[in-house]
Amino acid sequence: MQTKCSCLNETDAEKYERIAQVIEEYKDREGSLIQILHMSQGIYGYLPLELQKFIAQKTAIPLSKVNGVITFYSFFSTQPRGENTIRVCLGTACYVRGGKKILEKIHELLGIGAGQTTPDRKFTLEVMRCIGACGLAPAITINGKVYKRVNPDKLEKILEEY
Ligand code: FES
Repeated sequence: MQTKCSCLNETDAEKYERIAQVIEEYKDREGSLIQILHMSQGIYGYLPLELQKFIAQKTAIPLSKVNGVITFYSFFSTQPRGENTIRVCLGTACYVRGGKKILEKIHELLGIGAGQTTPDRKFTLEVMRCIGACGLAPAITINGKVYKRVNPDKLEKILEEY
C-alpha cells in the first residue's frame, strides 16, 4: 500500500523547525549561506521576507546580505512557485517569430504574466534567453521539457497535458 508523504501536511512551524536544524548544522561551514538558502527553499518552497529574517537572525548574518544573495541568484524565489514552470524564450529569433504572442496567449489562458504564478499554484510563468533552438523558434520549456515551433493553438494543447 502506498503511504502519503507526511511532509505534505507539515505546518509552517514544523517547516521553520526543520530550517532551524539545517541552520544549526550548516552555519559554521564556509559558504554556508547559499546552502542554507537552498535547503530552506527546498523545505518551505520559496523564501518570503519573514523566512529571510528568521535565517538572518539564526545565522547572525545581516538581513541585507541574506536578501542580497537571494536577489542575485535567479534560482531563489521570494514568491510561491507553481507546480509547473513555463519559460518562454524571448531571444531574438523567438521574439521575432512570435514569442511575445505566446506570452499574450498564456496571459489569456492562465491569467498570469511573466514572473507570476496562478492562484491555484499550478503554473509559474517566466521568460528566458535563447536556449539554442532558434531554428525552430518560437520555443518554450515546461519543467525543462523543450517545445519548439509553438503557436497559440498548439500552446493550448500543450498546457492541457499539465
Ligand atoms: S532565440 Fe529562442 S531558442 Fe534561440
